[in-house]
Amino acid sequence: MKFPADFLWGSATSSYQIEGAATTDGRGKSIWDVFCETPGKVINADSGAVAIDHYNRYEQDVDVMSSLGLQAYRFSIAWPRIMPNGTGKIEKRGLDFYDRLVDKLLEKGIMPLATLYHWDLPAELEDKGGWTNRDSASWFADYAAVVHEALQDRVKMWATLNEPWVSAFLGYGIGIHAPGIKDPAKAFQAAHHLLLGHGKAIEVMRSQSSDSSLGIVLNMAPVYLEGTAPAGHPAHEAIELQDAILNKLWMNTLLKGQYPKTLINLGPVITDSIHEGDLAEISRPIDWMGVNYYQDSRSVPDDSAGGGVMDSTGNGALPGSKGVKPAPLVGEVTDFGWSTTPDGLRRLLVDMRDSYENLPPVYITENGAAYDDPIVDGKINDTRRIKFINEHLKAVHQAIEQGVDVRGYMHWSLFDNFEWAEGYRQRFGLVHVDFETQVRLPRESSWHYARIISNNGF
Ligand code: FCB
Repeated sequence: MKFPADFLWGSATSSYQIEGAATTDGRGKSIWDVFCETPGKVINADSGAVAIDHYNRYEQDVDVMSSLGLQAYRFSIAWPRIMPNGTGKIEKRGLDFYDRLVDKLLEKGIMPLATLYHWDLPAELEDKGGWTNRDSASWFADYAAVVHEALQDRVKMWATLNEPWVSAFLGYGIGIHAPGIKDPAKAFQAAHHLLLGHGKAIEVMRSQSSDSSLGIVLNMAPVYLEGTAPAGHPAHEAIELQDAILNKLWMNTLLKGQYPKTLINLGPVITDSIHEGDLAEISRPIDWMGVNYYQDSRSVPDDSAGGGVMDSTGNGALPGSKGVKPAPLVGEVTDFGWSTTPDGLRRLLVDMRDSYENLPPVYITENGAAYDDPIVDGKINDTRRIKFINEHLKAVHQAIEQGVDVRGYMHWSLFDNFEWAEGYRQRFGLVHVDFETQVRLPRESSWHYARIISNNGF
């Protein structure tokens, strides 16, 4: 099983999850610093204040990447390091860190893929409403311009946002992520402004350089109902709404310049945010699209009164759960309690190609699993992660055979790290990290992945 000759093999991380050094070199606070300080929000009251101290250990960390033969490294840039207040003053020492990181990567022959926003919004901007404020789109584009200008001579591949669905719906809709707001109407506002910010950032980066490859990273999944529900059962509407929010909200606006009808039908909660010209900005051409895939989204009909994890008043709830509940888990269930559904990745990729004729080349920008296997005689034999990688790469390979233009795969994650509301208890790394001593120990999966890279397949 060989991949196309120029297929790009890499691994991914994000700033708040690995860097630590939260007050070093003038870094401002982010919404995640604030969220972690709020009692009851993060397991064990963990935070990214130290994380895996990558800010200080980046050179050794790049050596680890090099020993695995990674061709690309996807990392994110911490906005509060560059603009501690979110707008205005630029912190040169913050930019210098990414400068050093990029130089070190290039010295080792590893291509940098920079994500501009992986959830660490400067806290001062949240005081002004964060992503619910329409100005957030311009704040983001201004920040993007500063970073792109500084690094575009050496960083050729850029993502604007990571998983805006998560920022909007987990951050502002059900509040399990920073900034912890529980208001579905605000989630829709945030979603629109994130998209608008993406479009404005694309415009400004394009004007700065014509040889930057610009894209966005989305978490998507096939959404479907298992089993049958009679016509008229609320489950059908729920599935349509879930699919609209998880997939079509992003894909239709970005690639067709249109909101899905299902959402427009919700009325002012959607349409009030949309100003004339917004969709033209949002749908500016992009050069690639990143897909983060963990599991598909399956529900079964639910006849109980409550209606799943959300209710129609929107209280603590996401739209699209009335009349359904999560389907039973399948496959090798991960420590996170997620199913493993590799064929969902093939299906998603084929659906994207079939539904969007202007789909740009696709990169798998995240895919991975939390499995914590013990260290035995200095080794971690994480056979479940190895199986996960094999099955998902097989699915990617099938999608390519079925004609989808997939250009690369970035495993999530390179290192164990701070897993957001789950703190440090979910270990996603190819490389184990002892959070007390900061010792890095490559798991067997990392050597397995290294062999796949060197063979360009199996
Ligand atoms: C994705 C995030 C990433 C990580 C993985 C497990 O949603 O982009 O930061 O938390 O999930």
